[in-house]
Amino acid sequence: MVTRSLRTTARRALVLAAAGAMAVTGVVALSGTANAATTLGASAAERGGRYFGAAVAANHLGEARYFQTWTTEFNGATPENEMKWQTIEPSRNQFNFAPANQIVTQARSRGMKVRGHTLVWHSQLAGWVSSLDATNLRSAMNNHINRVMGQWRGQIHSWDVVNEAFEENGSRRQSVFQQRLGNGYIEEAFRAARTADPNAKLCYNDYNTDGINAKSNAVFALVQDFRNRGVPIDCVGFQSHFNGASPVPGNYQQNLQRFANLGVDVQITELDIEGSGTAQANNYRNVVNACLAVSRCTGITVWGIPDHYSWRPNGTPLLFDSNYNKKAAYTAVLNALNTGQSDPPPNDPPPNDPPPNDPPPTTGACAATVSTNQWTGGFVGSVRVTAGSAQVNAWTVTVTLPSGATLTSGWNADRSGNTGTVQFTNVGFNGSIAPGQSVDFGYQGTGTGTGVTPTCAAS
Ligand code: XIL
Repeated sequence: MVTRSLRTTARRALVLAAAGAMAVTGVVALSGTANAATTLGASAAERGGRYFGAAVAANHLGEARYFQTWTTEFNGATPENEMKWQTIEPSRNQFNFAPANQIVTQARSRGMKVRGHTLVWHSQLAGWVSSLDATNLRSAMNNHINRVMGQWRGQIHSWDVVNEAFEENGSRRQSVFQQRLGNGYIEEAFRAARTADPNAKLCYNDYNTDGINAKSNAVFALVQDFRNRGVPIDCVGFQSHFNGASPVPGNYQQNLQRFANLGVDVQITELDIEGSGTAQANNYRNVVNACLAVSRCTGITVWGIPDHYSWRPNGTPLLFDSNYNKKAAYTAVLNALNTGQSDPPPNDPPPNDPPPNDPPPTTGACAATVSTNQWTGGFVGSVRVTAGSAQVNAWTVTVTLPSGATLTSGWNADRSGNTGTVQFTNVGFNGSIAPGQSVDFGYQGTGTGTGVTPTCAAS
């Protein structure tokens, strides 16, 4: 550690000297790259044409520092509220495009990518929509999609066609759309959206889908089904509203990648991370690095510009403080974008280190590791089973749950019970694992599910 810390200190001294030498252009490049970009947007663009956007509110555009920070630093915009149903179609077939149009016009005149947010959502919905019967709701939904997308046809990079349609346990949220139109409403909305603006990328967007859990599994199944059946969908948005001490799930990148593997783009659409100083900076860095590691992660949008205009101002979750000063998190994001690599502070583990309670791979024919996502009162365990140097034909993973933990569901394995020591055996399609390869299964439960050490037996 001492060696590493000295080395890091020496390297930092060099970096500082280099930064001093380049102060005229304002370039600070940890990698020593001579022409590293100095704004978030320019730097993201250099990373495979990605965008780095911000949620923008029309009523702040007249404020000089706000406007300047947005247009200097970002190359993307999402209207924070202006395209939501209650604002844009407050009465049936009466459209109020002006507030959103201010943002779209400014953004496009500067070559920014605009995200349309959002067409079909249970929240911030106009009151009149909830009283419609199924026939009227269907035609109102299709009309809304046609008119709103049609207003900016060819000008919007990506649209959040459907927002937040699932509950935490993976069931459908009982919105008015779900209740009146049934499961098919999401597909209908995406089909209508493709017709309304064939050039826009069509996204499904949600929160708490940032790790591998029951909710993200449900979204995954939806997207997989759409891809299999040719229902139009181009992207999945991960809102990534994070708070708490260690908010970014360890399997964040893995989750982005599994969606990308379905053949859709992934976008981080509403990023904010509560906290301050180094801890917040590290979390932001981890998110940026995860996106950069997934080639189909095409852009990141932070949910606001200065902290005091955040929807959760007390958590100071953004990159600029309330005086528009750049925070440590800003520097971490810019450096990550510029180098593509984190520069971990001396005592921090590199971002991809396994969580401390991951067991070392066991000897024998298979090994199992678990990553647990715990929230108040419940948890999801994601288990990876890896074959050793020989083919595995069938496997059993044993997990001893802490007392008080009770499993309520599981996927991709049969299980022997719900409490205490539970055995999971492969199902038909995932028993056979080639040497060195892995399969995944999972479980969900109530209580506390952390601190378990799975063992694996193979035949
Ligand atoms: C929030 C806005 O930031 C607030 O100004 C508004 O009062 C409520 O909505 N998920 C979304 C966003 O998709 O549209 C929400 O934005 C935050 C949660």
